[in-house]
Amino acid sequence: MDHFNYRNGELYAENIAVADIAERFGTPAYVYSRATLERHYRAYDEALAGRPHLVCYAVKANSNLAVLNVLARLGAGFDIVSAGELERVLRAGGDATKVVFSGVGKQEWEMKRALEAGVRCFNVESDTELDRLNKVAGELGVRAPVSLRVNPDVDAGTHPYISTGLKENKFGIDIAEAPAVYARAASLPHLDIQGVDCHIGSQLTSVSPFLDALDRVLALIDTLAEQGIHIRHLDMGGGLGVTYQDETPPQPSDYVQALAERLGNRELELVLEPGRSIAANAGILLTRVEFLKCTEHRNFAIIDAAMNDLIRPALYSAWQAIIPVRPRQDGEEKSWDLVGPVCETGDFLGKDRLLRLDAGDLLAVRSAGAYGFVMASNYNTRNRPPELMVDGDQVHVVRRRETLDDQLAPESCLPE
Ligand code: LLP
Repeated sequence: MDHFNYRNGELYAENIAVADIAERFGTPAYVYSRATLERHYRAYDEALAGRPHLVCYAVKANSNLAVLNVLARLGAGFDIVSAGELERVLRAGGDATKVVFSGVGKQEWEMKRALEAGVRCFNVESDTELDRLNKVAGELGVRAPVSLRVNPDVDAGTHPYISTGLKENKFGIDIAEAPAVYARAASLPHLDIQGVDCHIGSQLTSVSPFLDALDRVLALIDTLAEQGIHIRHLDMGGGLGVTYQDETPPQPSDYVQALAERLGNRELELVLEPGRSIAANAGILLTRVEFLKCTEHRNFAIIDAAMNDLIRPALYSAWQAIIPVRPRQDGEEKSWDLVGPVCETGDFLGKDRLLRLDAGDLLAVRSAGAYGFVMASNYNTRNRPPELMVDGDQVHVVRRRETLDDQLAPESCLPE
């Protein structure tokens, strides 16, 4: 459930008419709902109450400082994949001791910074990364807390670009090899084994792949115990899907309950790294129709948002709902392709959408709170849109619209 709903025939974000937001701040613009973010975070946290747990929001999904700050205020932990994301978490008031550091390519300086900040755990993805972390920790005179990200070889049944738990992916350590890699980790003096980690993919719409992965990881934990390696936490990664169209993913509470049942009374702290299921439906991309262009073959509505603002449709053929901010009763309902001004055929946000449209109309692309702004670019020298956060009957600019000067500042011409 989210807080973008129709009231008196027009779309509201919490208690604010979305058309008023467009009037005040212009389009295109990302609009987030604080209440929705909080609701989604709490759905996890409350479902896990009663057992040791840490919900580490995956910063990559939406790393705006205000988003991180809203979650930090609720006591969230964070899953990061770069030193840049760590800095965001710290500046947003997040607690480093609740941060897990994932990613296949951590550099030495990033490891150093994370150790200095005192992160909770490094999710290590390879044998060679273990050596690098051991070296950096040794130089600092500390022991680095580690989990190994294992690859349980399960098919998450999702888009190949966002499926990560199969053997052929670059992620993680083959679960069959994990006991040997753990044994090596245990022999390195500057590492402190804390947990096991896995993340099998994103936008999963059923619990069964998660449970398959869990069974395999629990078997690994038992093998490790026989080797004398004691695992304190189990990190199941992120990946729970959301409803974009007609998917019916499990609710966080159902998902967590299914995990908890399998865990029984094992003394393991459960760590989760949800991103999309917290942020996606807490945001919309607000855009305006510039021109209507009807040809013999197709009807195009040219809108002021484009693939540079939201790349998911172009990159993954993702379908996101596109709804009118003020639905019209007049005019003919037609099938429209919603396309942006960028010079690429792939520049569309939606195709074959049945709508009543006129130039100047406002549209909302739903489920744009995750992997939206964070994946935006300046392609075609377009300024990236502002990010706005609605909180009850207030709207806050949490990132102003970019200007051309912002874009050009780092560039220069060759000397005369
Ligand atoms: N943990 C790890 C190690 C991850 O790689 C990811 C996402 C997450 C957690 C969060 O997963 P989530 O709960 O959001 O599914 N740009 C793509 C999604 C890429 C996901 C990458 N990893 C999209 O727009 O669909």
